[in-house]
Amino acid sequence: MALSFLQRVKSPIHSRISRDDATRLRLKYDTYYHIFEKQAGTRVWKDGKEFIMLSSNDYLGLTHHPKIKEAGVQALEKWGASTTGARLANGGRIFHRELEEDLAEFVGKEACHVFSAGYLACASAVTGFADRKDVLFADKNLHSSLWSGIKLSGARCERFSHNHPVHLKELVGYEEEKTAKIFVLEGVYSMEGHIAKLPEFINLAKEFSAFVILDDAHGFGVLGKDGRGVCDHFGLTDEVDVICSSFSKSLAGSGGFVASSKEAIDYMRSHSKQTIFSAALSPSASACSRAALKIMKEEPQHREQLFRNLNRYRSILKELELDTWESETPAIPIVLGEKEKVYYFWKALLEKGIYTIISIAPGVPPGKDLIRTAISAAHTDEDLDRIEEAMHFAKSKI
Ligand SMILES: Cc1ncc(COP(=O)(O)O)c(C=O)c1O
Repeated sequence: MALSFLQRVKSPIHSRISRDDATRLRLKYDTYYHIFEKQAGTRVWKDGKEFIMLSSNDYLGLTHHPKIKEAGVQALEKWGASTTGARLANGGRIFHRELEEDLAEFVGKEACHVFSAGYLACASAVTGFADRKDVLFADKNLHSSLWSGIKLSGARCERFSHNHPVHLKELVGYEEEKTAKIFVLEGVYSMEGHIAKLPEFINLAKEFSAFVILDDAHGFGVLGKDGRGVCDHFGLTDEVDVICSSFSKSLAGSGGFVASSKEAIDYMRSHSKQTIFSAALSPSASACSRAALKIMKEEPQHREQLFRNLNRYRSILKELELDTWESETPAIPIVLGEKEKVYYFWKALLEKGIYTIISIAPGVPPGKDLIRTAISAAHTDEDLDRIEEAMHFAKSKI
């Protein structure tokens, strides 16, 4: 019988929720979780106002590619909306295997497993291999998905200074020889746009017999032959044990993958809970990513345009003497160093119809508060003219 007359005493969680400063400030300044009512090309619309999107990760500008849309629609028609279950239990589908074979071949690995989110893929790349007895060595600026995997693995983790092989060497040197060591790196650091110093890290992996896991979410599609990624860029694909990535950047889709040897992928399928207990990638998402991969191989013009746009965008920022944290890739931060400056710069860009993202400490190191921008092959000359004018305006406001 329900005791409806009993008053439920509030849990401390309720007061934590209602008094949370991070949420109160976010809602007050209205900086995140915006809703756009329409998108087309590089444009998005909010409350009827048009903005140029300057922070999406659609580096190759493939979101509206007709062949990708067509592939997604056909898969939806043929297979329905979902496979409604995890692959271990309800089985994968032939389109998962086809996509995995194409991806493995493209990045130069024997095998691959696809996931319904890049976040899951990158967390699994760690949980699938790291054991409690191992020691993980992680770049301080890794993406949250890798930190989740690190935490869930239960392994001890040592953090080394960002992209700093000398510091890593010092830390690894303290460990016993027999301890299993795993390096966790990103190919291109998403906030900073830095390319990993992979040759140095691989030398250390050889010296200390470390296993190497690399998240190439922002290098895939951008660096290497036809966009094969950072490992290909350095000719070090065979030396990196596990490559993980997301479909939501250059492939303009959703989902992610882990690629490695056949033996390692089979091992991950037995040991990563995120692989075992999460529903399979949907038919349409699989088809869109497979079509996008084909376009990456067959239509080099998108990458060429990306680099042309990148050159022009870089020169705009350079002329304004804005600090881009030595970014080498299309992910370009504008470091302003103080959250107030970041806020006014971002507001000024919005006023001029340019949409960017604020990133402040603790999301970035103290003193590195920044505006995160990313250039795409889809930006037109007219977009770049408007971006240039808006950057001049925003700079004058701080
Ligand atoms: C470096 C990195 N890894 C993993 C992810 C997660 O990918 P997704 O957003 O597709 O889940 C992201 C996305 O922001 C990322 O930047």
